[in-house]
Amino acid sequence: MRAVVVDAFGPIENAAIREVPDPVPGPVDLLVEVHATAANYVDILLMGGRHQSKPGLPFIPGKGPAGIVRSAGAEVAGFAAGDRVVAMCEPAGGFAELISVPAAQCHRIPASMPFEDAASMALVYDTAWFSLRERGRYADGETVLVLGATGGVGLAAVQLAKALGAKVLAGVASASKAGMVREAGADAIVDLAREDIHDSLREQVHAATGGHGADIVIDPLGDAIFDAAIRALAWCGRLVVVGFAAGRIPTIRANYLLVRNIDVSGLQIGDYRRRRPDLTARCFEEIYALYEAGRIAPLPTRILPLEKFADALAAIRDRTARGRIVLTQNRRG
Ligand SMILES: NC(=O)c1ccc[n+]([C@@H]2O[C@H](COP(=O)([O-])OP(=O)(O)OC[C@H]3O[C@@H](n4cnc5c(N)ncnc54)[C@H](OP(=O)(O)O)[C@@H]3O)[C@@H](O)[C@H]2O)c1
Repeated sequence: MRAVVVDAFGPIENAAIREVPDPVPGPVDLLVEVHATAANYVDILLMGGRHQSKPGLPFIPGKGPAGIVRSAGAEVAGFAAGDRVVAMCEPAGGFAELISVPAAQCHRIPASMPFEDAASMALVYDTAWFSLRERGRYADGETVLVLGATGGVGLAAVQLAKALGAKVLAGVASASKAGMVREAGADAIVDLAREDIHDSLREQVHAATGGHGADIVIDPLGDAIFDAAIRALAWCGRLVVVGFAAGRIPTIRANYLLVRNIDVSGLQIGDYRRRRPDLTARCFEEIYALYEAGRIAPLPTRILPLEKFADALAAIRDRTARGRIVLTQNRRG
């Protein structure tokens, strides 16, 4: 089969498309014919050897491919050839014509959902769901501040929080992308590009909430924005650490948690998938039910052929991407 292959950790340009042997599925696996896979920020970390999980070399990047089951292992129950699924592969492997994934990590997609939509939604909506529901313990009508709201996880969190009935504040660093965030359902924009962010973030959140603050902060950014955002939490607020796209991994002074009765928790979704497949299944059921009801929709998505994987990842790295980029297969024969 054809696949994007990483032979050595480094810049995305080091990876290349070439022929590799087809995967050999085991008894609990599904062999999936891949139709679409999104490009993600985390691909760049994995390809650079900068992610907490380092794949063995060589490896095929690409998370959350969507496609058709070609065969199911002897011990697999509940799936059959021809089923349309999203395959939450770990650590990667989706930038390929075929992938073998444990059936427990595969989820049937709605009949009305194109593969491009399934791939576009994978990884970002489930990350948003676990951040809000599981780590953030979202309760009806709470105020959610989503940082990095112009990114994949951020836009999904804005849309999902809105669909769940939250008041949504969206932290935006690139003002030119604010329209996209408003369309996703944000009630107010918090400008993350201000120089005095340590104070101005809290001022903006308090202005938008009548001094209450944010009940939940979803933080894919870290760095100085985390330091500022923790100060904008309401009493008994919860901040969920999702990533460090802004650079520095922040530290927390424990007295701050005590004085304000606040929680800071972390999310590592791959680990949840392994340990709590039941919860992951519930997550995809709810996301797909909201999709079918028209209450959430895939983020703006640009479709490119797999051959353009480096362009797609460069757009994410260089912060020029708007919404999601999905890579599709130009199938042979
Ligand atoms: N914990 C988990 O299980 C999990 C799961 C998925 C993703 N993640 C992590 O979450 C983070 C975001 O992923 P993603 O897929 O949403 O990435 P993405 O689509 O590339 O979005 C990145 C976001 O970060 C913002 N950003 C980047 N550099 C910034 C800076 N210096 N200052 C302020 N904002 C900055 C971008 O703003 P602009 O639009 O202005 O560029 C954008 O909103 C990554 O670190 C990823 O690894 C973690």
